[in-house]
Amino acid sequence: MKKKFLARMLTAMLGVGMLTAGVPNISSDDFIPVASAAVRNAYDINFDASKGVEKTMAINGIAVKFVAYENIVYVKNPANVESQSLSIYVPAEYLRGGTVNGYIASTAPIFMPNGVGGYMPGPILEPVEKDKFTGKPNASLVALSRGMVVVAPAIRGRTTVTNGAYVGKAPAFIVDYKAAVRYLRYNKNRLPAGDTEKIISNGTSAGGALSAALGTMGNAEEFDGYLKEIGAADERDDIFASSVYCPITNLENADKAYEWIFSGVNTYYPAMWQIEDWKARGVYKGKDNGKPAQVDSNSANNPIASSEPVDMTADEIKISKTLRDAFPDYVNSLRLVDYENKPLTLDQNGNGTFKDYIKSVYISSAQMALIHGQDLSKTTWIYMKNGKVIDVDLDAYPSAVTRMKAAPAFDKMDLSSAENDEFGTAANKPRHFSDIVQKNFGGPMAESEQIRLMNPLNFIGRNGVKTAKYFRIRHGAADRDTALAIPAILALKLQEGGAEVNFFAPWGQGHGGDYDLDELFNWIDSICR
Ligand code: DHB
Repeated sequence: MKKKFLARMLTAMLGVGMLTAGVPNISSDDFIPVASAAVRNAYDINFDASKGVEKTMAINGIAVKFVAYENIVYVKNPANVESQSLSIYVPAEYLRGGTVNGYIASTAPIFMPNGVGGYMPGPILEPVEKDKFTGKPNASLVALSRGMVVVAPAIRGRTTVTNGAYVGKAPAFIVDYKAAVRYLRYNKNRLPAGDTEKIISNGTSAGGALSAALGTMGNAEEFDGYLKEIGAADERDDIFASSVYCPITNLENADKAYEWIFSGVNTYYPAMWQIEDWKARGVYKGKDNGKPAQVDSNSANNPIASSEPVDMTADEIKISKTLRDAFPDYVNSLRLVDYENKPLTLDQNGNGTFKDYIKSVYISSAQMALIHGQDLSKTTWIYMKNGKVIDVDLDAYPSAVTRMKAAPAFDKMDLSSAENDEFGTAANKPRHFSDIVQKNFGGPMAESEQIRLMNPLNFIGRNGVKTAKYFRIRHGAADRDTALAIPAILALKLQEGGAEVNFFAPWGQGHGGDYDLDELFNWIDSICR
């Protein structure tokens, strides 16, 4: 997943430098402009069932036959045609009135993966037999083999440009995912198969944040204006379930969570994609040390930039402590409870029941690995007794997995992160989104409404907003891109809001997604049947 994102980033970046030249000076208030040249009702959003093409692929030598309806613009007035197109793939059996995996045309769940990574534009995730990086069938093909209809939308991202304006900054990606859901509901009687009340989103990292947003923000009225502007169908956009891998979400609080874990570790190992991203936007300050990229020992798919750690500056070390010290107040403000309704809190030193809860997630992860026969004797940060994991040392954890990002991890003092870019203006000026960082270092701040609309936590349990009934959230126990506390808080809030949440931290897994497709589709079967 990660390598895929890196490759996509490199390709996309080649164009970016050229495109920034000659950008008109658009007011920063105007943060989501639709291309001014958009023609009203330029696209017909009635699905045309005569346009299908039959295809056959194979998984382990077994044929998977499906009908593909490709590159359909899903809104009437797209801000960007390529990024607002989707493809629909239907198991061929359904067009002959057949059954696949216990489903028929009218009951087949609709699996809706997004290809967003790094807050970049997300491509259509068409079925492939051999994924370029894993060599295995991708999630879209496996979904078809399991009787699901696949709807794969392309989605705008932070570098999407139309007529010189950046039209894909926050919260455009949520608007597009919602518009794709609305397109499906609008066409439900024209689709050859698929139950539009059983839509399941899926995404990884920034795409995981997006999947969580779709699952938590159903029908929220704040998006109506954005959806109207692009000519989305006038329909509901709530969904049935969300699959969320390592979400880079809750961005305005993610810096505090990161320092709660990593403060005190003052060197970091950036990932390759970060350096490429910095270089492409002209904000790279480091020097290549001439050493070849090496593979992060925690994640075979997450290459780090060099074998040498980079030292944090005095300013970075100082803000690290400030952010760490601010985390307990943030956690306590959430009034979290565990599955038995016990309060999860932190004292001013960062200790308490919330910390115990985070430790319990790592303990379950390690215990599960032991049960599956993994050797954990060399893991320095867990304690075992009589073949059972009895505790984890959260102070030893950060140096064992290594820090990936200097403080602040997300809202950079020099506005150099992917997230600063995501909160940027139509003229491509990056902005802050964390109060603490902005107050300490100055510089432009994103609109508070733009920040609010990006965070699932602002929508869970709210009147008039429909949260998906089911969530499956995964965050690798070796993920360094964001702190485990971030998906954990999301899972706890969802649970408290009445959703059924399946949350787990797979042992040894770094930043990535779609690595456990059998389990993912078993979960979908279990909630749909
Ligand atoms: C992604 C990873 C990050 O570390 C980040 O800050 C933003 C996005 C990603 O893989 O999508």
